[in-house]
Amino acid sequence: MDNREYSYFQAFKQIARTANSPLPLKSVLNAAAKSAAKGLKAAGCSIMLLNPQKEYLDVISAYGLSDLYIRKGVLKANKSLPEVLNGELVAIFDFAQDERTQYPDAAEMEGISSVLAAPIMQKGEVIGEIRIYTREPRQFSQVDKDFLTAVANIVAVSLEKNELYQVLKTEHEETVTKRRKLVETPKLPSSSLRPSSFGHPSEQEFAKLLDFYRIEWLHEPRSFPLAWQDGKVVEMFTPDFYLPELDLYIELTTLKQSLITEKNRKLRRLRELYPDISIKLLNKSDYLRLLAKYGYGGLGGTKVKGVDRVLFSHTQIQRRVKALAKRISHDYMGRKLVLVGILKGVMCFMADLMQHITLPLNVDFMSISYYGTNNESAVKITKDLDISIAGLDVLMVEDIVDTGMTLNYVLNHLAAHNPASLHVCTLLDKRVRRLVDVPLDYIGFEIPDEFIVGYGLDYHGEYRNLPFIGMLKPELIEEEGKK
Ligand code: PRP
Repeated sequence: MDNREYSYFQAFKQIARTANSPLPLKSVLNAAAKSAAKGLKAAGCSIMLLNPQKEYLDVISAYGLSDLYIRKGVLKANKSLPEVLNGELVAIFDFAQDERTQYPDAAEMEGISSVLAAPIMQKGEVIGEIRIYTREPRQFSQVDKDFLTAVANIVAVSLEKNELYQVLKTEHEETVTKRRKLVETPKLPSSSLRPSSFGHPSEQEFAKLLDFYRIEWLHEPRSFPLAWQDGKVVEMFTPDFYLPELDLYIELTTLKQSLITEKNRKLRRLRELYPDISIKLLNKSDYLRLLAKYGYGGLGGTKVKGVDRVLFSHTQIQRRVKALAKRISHDYMGRKLVLVGILKGVMCFMADLMQHITLPLNVDFMSISYYGTNNESAVKITKDLDISIAGLDVLMVEDIVDTGMTLNYVLNHLAAHNPASLHVCTLLDKRVRRLVDVPLDYIGFEIPDEFIVGYGLDYHGEYRNLPFIGMLKPELIEEEGKK
């Protein structure tokens, strides 16, 4: 075995041993980054994961790189070596000059010459990448590439093992406490990959609040150099958070006046040097107000009382509604579209949906009430349509389809008025509770058997004005009231 092969072997042995140890995931990844750099006799290594929407890469572990380089800014996934995100290995000889490099100045300052990047794949899908950085220009050999691919595979297995462990742990805890089944919601980055220690408890509290409202965040992704001496950075500023959905940096403050003055000075400088950057200095009451302004939270309050967790954030709902409207606009092109909604739950969804449909259309509403007869309950129309739908293309819009009884009744009623076509669009589909099989043509989200409120949906008349959809705390639900 020659020298180089021996170095690979040693590095590989170390990575495999740590991966199979009881160490926390963060330590496993740090060890992998270090051993990969050493094995390849390179200056540094970083391991990055894609966020759930696959929009940007988040550095979760690094070795041999300066803080300034690690926090050089958000790495947009589509701009950042797109070949790697297509599952290919990429070797770049002159990294600072390559047009794919998002921060060439930072690479030059860091003294990076060449880069080798390999995809981290799980179940045939790219979930991140591992990069090796060298100070000297280097043509990577096939053995270098094979080695990095093997390391990427071990990292993938370690991540999967950790996820599995997290799920098993949660399931166990839920069985013990007889909690409801784990709800399938869009994933946020795994909490085990979040910073284990924040600089200040207020940061952790803010992060929890962002998680509650399902707002994506990155902790300290970018350091901004503020002052230089002899070409070297002598002062920099690292905002606590970056919120990609709002393209906003956040720096939290405590009430210590001396610190606030200093932070204000740095912020002024940052705004002078980087006028395109949007940053806010927030204390606690400020950030609650900010969340409310961007459509999260209840009128500037803290977590909404009675809501256990947020199932779909304002942004997630808006994205989905826009996608549905786009499909509807395409499908109904050149037809006479009428949207029909049943009051009151549908009001938020209808208002947003119709604004994104790019066709001329008409809107009408119906009201119904449920009443009990001797031994069965029945539905009665309390407000019928104002317009005639004969010969028109009717799209029934519902906030939620649960048992399907309401929709079944209303569809039969509408069909009797001879529309040209009759289809259904529902934001939420609680399929597990279906009693009547109703055809659903456009579905926003399929949801589990949980009591949900917000975005038009109520519990005893309350919560309709929440801009998100949340799960009501189970202890608040009266047994008969499940919807
Ligand atoms: C909800 C919803 C649907 C119906 C679906 O209305 O708006 O119309 O329930 O339930 P189903 O599939 O079991 O028939 P709700 O009775 O809560 O009245 P609201 O819209 O005024 O809140």
